[in-house]
Amino acid sequence: MNDIRGKQVLITGAARGIGYAFARAFVDEGASVMIADRDIERAETAAQSLGERCAAVLMDVSDQSSIEQAVQTTIDRFGRIDVLINNAAIFTAAPIVEIERADFERCFSINVAGTLFTLQAVAKHMIERGGGGKIINMASQAGRRGESLVGVYCASKAAVISLTQSAGLNLIPHRINVNAIAPGVVDGEHWDGVDAFFARYEGKKPGQKKKEVGEAVPFGRMGTAEDLIGMALFLASSASDYVVAQTYNVDGGNWMS
Ligand SMILES: NC(=O)c1ccc[n+]([C@@H]2O[C@H](COP(=O)([O-])OP(=O)(O)OC[C@H]3O[C@@H](n4cnc5c(N)ncnc54)[C@H](O)[C@@H]3O)[C@@H](O)[C@H]2O)c1
Repeated sequence: MNDIRGKQVLITGAARGIGYAFARAFVDEGASVMIADRDIERAETAAQSLGERCAAVLMDVSDQSSIEQAVQTTIDRFGRIDVLINNAAIFTAAPIVEIERADFERCFSINVAGTLFTLQAVAKHMIERGGGGKIINMASQAGRRGESLVGVYCASKAAVISLTQSAGLNLIPHRINVNAIAPGVVDGEHWDGVDAFFARYEGKKPGQKKKEVGEAVPFGRMGTAEDLIGMALFLASSASDYVVAQTYNVDGGNWMS
């Protein structure tokens, strides 16, 4: 089922967290991986830790020229891109009456425009070389419904689900599959920030929000980055060739749709 060996993979935001776990998994499966991140020092350390089939490139997905440079660098290094994982994103939260326009624009320029225009740059390359390829967008359970204090991030991830549908339909004639993964609550540095936010806004002790959300997951705990690897490998492989424009929840049962 798994024909990942020999694939050339670009993963944005892979210097840490879920993206890094994906990079490690794809290298383990025999792929070559470009770790693209705005934190280039950490991206280089991450790439070195994964051996010679892994490299790092500076990329800010909110900057069009940076997207184009990073995609070209990946093609120059690996010859082509077979798989893109649009993983880079930021979290932001505030009560509705405190949301600042600059924060909204920053979040949408990374989570939504970054996803769209990285997808576009890679899709152009895939079409130019005759079509075929896999694009995986990282959505979220936050994109399935609003949350009281998380309006902007939730809206950005709803937009990722919608873009996955439109791009999936538009690109499948080129045999480019666009699908998304919607994780639930995944422990790591991202959630350290979420926990700190709720400690501030809801007067919780550090670690309390994580404990609450973990206990609320039907599976019985928060997710780990490793919990998402199976879905990413499936969506990158030929086993998912007939899967088009879908968003899959991988969240321990938090959301059903
Ligand atoms: N952790 C969770 O609970 C969770 C849940 C649902 C969805 N997700 C999504 O999964 C993906 C990965 O999450 P994570 O927990 O690993 O996050 P993370 O914050 O640990 O890592 C995000 C990475 O993206 C990079 N990045 C941020 N802005 C960037 C930019 N403009 N250009 C390039 N790189 C940039 C960061 O440097 C970092 O390396 C994100 O899309 C996130 O929204 C995470």
